[in-house]
Amino acid sequence: FSALCLGFAAFAAIAFQRAHLDTVGEVAFERPLRIPPLADTRIDGDGRRVFELELRRGSAELRPGTRTETYGIDGDVLGPTLRARRGEQVRVEVRNRLGEPSTLHWHGMHLPAEMDGGPHQLIGDGATWAPEWRIDQPAATLWYHPHLHGRTAEQVYRGMAGVFIVDDPGGAPRGLPSRYGVDDFPLIVQDKRIGDDGELDTSEGPFSPSGIVGDQLLVNGTPGPYLEVAHERVRLRLLNGSNARPYDLGFADGRAFYLVATDGGLLERPHRTTRVALTPGERAEIVVALRAGERAVLRSFPKALGMDVWNRRFSGADDALDLLELRAARTLESAPPPARTLAELPAPRVPADAPTRSFELTSASTIDDRSMEMERIDFAVERDRREVWEVRNSHGLFHSFHVHGVQFRVLEVDGAPPPPELAGLKDTVTLEPDQEMRLLVRMRDHSDPNLPLMFHCHLLSHEDRGMMGQFVVVEPGGEPGTVPDRAHRH
Ligand code: C2O
Ligand code: CU
Repeated sequence: FSALCLGFAAFAAIAFQRAHLDTVGEVAFERPLRIPPLADTRIDGDGRRVFELELRRGSAELRPGTRTETYGIDGDVLGPTLRARRGEQVRVEVRNRLGEPSTLHWHGMHLPAEMDGGPHQLIGDGATWAPEWRIDQPAATLWYHPHLHGRTAEQVYRGMAGVFIVDDPGGAPRGLPSRYGVDDFPLIVQDKRIGDDGELDTSEGPFSPSGIVGDQLLVNGTPGPYLEVAHERVRLRLLNGSNARPYDLGFADGRAFYLVATDGGLLERPHRTTRVALTPGERAEIVVALRAGERAVLRSFPKALGMDVWNRRFSGADDALDLLELRAARTLESAPPPARTLAELPAPRVPADAPTRSFELTSASTIDDRSMEMERIDFAVERDRREVWEVRNSHGLFHSFHVHGVQFRVLEVDGAPPPPELAGLKDTVTLEPDQEMRLLVRMRDHSDPNLPLMFHCHLLSHEDRGMMGQFVVVEPGGEPGTVPDRAHRH
């Protein structure tokens, strides 16, 4: 009997080790928010916009008072913001100085598979990889991060990620602040676990269903940040760059703001709301108004996400977190509200002969009961053909579904039309337990029939454990090839 008691006590001690995290009212906001610099770029003799990036190691103060060894891109932690216009040919020279292999994936970008930077485009230590493609998609906040199979979670967690802004050659619609670092700011929201010695804790813990959930919150790599604002309205490009943690973002005083863009670009019109939920990999752009002299705290609120108490607690969904303080100057430059129409976004149309494909999120390491294998191509889609992808979550935890190389449209969520935050262009969606979504997917870029693109859950340790699959894009009537046996092992 006493052995049983002891056993239970030990179990309870471990099980409740992850307490509900509540930092509301407790963050001092003592550090200026770091704004990732815009990446240096030049136009070469062939008219291409060229960027040079270096993957390297460094150290940074991620927890006040300590230094943490990090991975970064062109710096100690995170990477510069890349920026290019639709229609431009871009080339990125990525040199790997990490001391280990990696890759760099352009999340949300329409591009051919060989430029995608997924697990098959390995960059060996000391090597340079130089993908090139033409930007052909609407203005959006995309991002980039490593995608080395089995090591994505750790490399991102150590600090590698950055924002890639696509601009429209016609400029932004009226009322959308667009001066980078002035009234338009990227906010990369992440969480880490950092020991007293400053060391990053990369263990997932025995009961963590979703991977690493940290208690040190960071925005752009800054703990407890504030941002001084000199304009009546600011645009915040929010990116959930965390490994596992979901956020439900809003302001401490409950003020409304406009949601103006999701993953792949602008919404048709601004959506007035008080919350925007983001699971890992998702982006949202919001425009928020400020009054002279005031302070406004960006907060993440608890959200059930259809899970039981255990999963809510351990995934971090129950937490209440203060993330960033906006400090408005005593006098503010005036700024108009967002235009009533932001973009043309025709309602998605499903052709009568559209093929339907279904996917079931079956566990934290499988889709359709299978784990990712580098050599297995799961299916082929025809270039330019619209397909309906039905995704169902039959697991007790929330998961996400991300597709490479495309922005898709959500047709239905549990049989109903999508809410405004899912009505625009998306590349990553969240599925609560038992939820089902129908997506309209159309791959526009041709790819090598032997070179797959990925679809996966964006909780990074799920992806690493195999909650991922591969597909190729073929010309009509084409067949999937086979993944050549090449040096993708590490
Ligand atoms: Cu952002 Cu396949 O990932
Ligand atoms: Cu998952």
